[in-house]
Amino acid sequence: MKSINVGILGLGTVGGGTALVLQRNAEEISRRVGCRVTVTSASVRSLTSPRLCDCTQLKLTQDPFEIVSDTSIDIIVELIGGDTLAKDLVFKAIENGKHIVTANKALIALHGNEIFAAADARGVSVSYESAVAGGISIIKAIREGLAGNRVEMLAGIINGTGNFILTEMRDKGRPFEDVLTEAQELGYAEADPTFDVEGIDAAHKLTILASIAFGTPLQFEKVYTEGISALSLIDVAYAEELGYRIKHLGIATSTDKGLELRVHPTLIPEKRLLANVDGVMNAVLVKGDAVGNTLHYGAGAGAEPTASAVVADILDVVRSIECPAQSKVPHLGFQAGSIIEQTVKTQDQFESAYYLRFDVKDVAGVMSKLSAEFAAQNISIEAITQKEPKQGQNFVSVIFITQRTIEGLVDKAIESIQAMDEVTTGAVKIRVEHFN
Ligand code: HSE
Repeated sequence: MKSINVGILGLGTVGGGTALVLQRNAEEISRRVGCRVTVTSASVRSLTSPRLCDCTQLKLTQDPFEIVSDTSIDIIVELIGGDTLAKDLVFKAIENGKHIVTANKALIALHGNEIFAAADARGVSVSYESAVAGGISIIKAIREGLAGNRVEMLAGIINGTGNFILTEMRDKGRPFEDVLTEAQELGYAEADPTFDVEGIDAAHKLTILASIAFGTPLQFEKVYTEGISALSLIDVAYAEELGYRIKHLGIATSTDKGLELRVHPTLIPEKRLLANVDGVMNAVLVKGDAVGNTLHYGAGAGAEPTASAVVADILDVVRSIECPAQSKVPHLGFQAGSIIEQTVKTQDQFESAYYLRFDVKDVAGVMSKLSAEFAAQNISIEAITQKEPKQGQNFVSVIFITQRTIEGLVDKAIESIQAMDEVTTGAVKIRVEHFN
């Protein structure tokens, strides 16, 4: 039986998981693709660290460039992460005619346009299913399964660490830092966990999803990004009282005025499936003009769930090695000449509903003064609630949920309200999406 040789760059959580799954499921895999898929080499930082996989038949090296130049290797699996060394290695491997499989969302979001162009010119493929939403086949679903649709919007919980933290804080009242440490121990978090908690990792993933959904170039710099670090448990509790859950979402919408690309905490009605995606699980809602809403759910991080997507990509490449180039799905799912620049909205042009909390002095008439500022901006209010002051507090919290409106108008109302003497602290603004 023919053998296809794989070299893995980085044998950490995902690299070790990938080699383990390939080893454990070797027989099933050969039945699927008609040949043996063998990890022959891997690059590592330390030759002596413990590994998830069996390394006895592997050639380990501390020089990753040795692997990308090894003529016996057909597929390079890049699992180092980051966009410096990984970028150099991927370009070198492409130059050497290797097919690439990568889980590196930062690399694709920041440099994917050039990487795909180089790969197309060299006649090799770059597969990145595992870069978004771990084990969920969301790239394949959008690029292939939903290819008959014009995608109208997608919204997803696409950072497992952030969702794990929010869930543990809400359900068990655990402190943020404590849950983050556990997420790091479980191998969910990025090497730099601020990427998870400040929304950068989700923005990398949204960049990729938006490009394959709308056929636009990858444009990370245009994604509006807020993380979960500023989120307060009190707003999580108030949202629940009003029948909502707060989730950290990446949202990409195609409107007649341009694309909205945004990552931020969002209130979702508690009955929606997305509101009930907890722990490290990810879910992506994709709305196509033909199919309507589809929801894709699964583990978003961790060794084997991510390895599941890496191995699926490897097997796609193995199949394509024997196939004519025309049968290949283009990197962004659209023909290279059909990638079209589109206007991307700025934050003040976003359309959403809003949860707004103001802490105000408990004096007569304050509620009507606040409401008047919304009326002045033509913003309709869906719900208002006032929380009695807790013992020792010299303010009351007033919470508004607006109807859908333009964010710039909301910001103007907030600015006027914050200038009032009765308002004691800065406003809290969290976007609300109903996904009807
Ligand atoms: N740190 C990422 C997450 C890993 O928590 O989602 C998977 O991309």
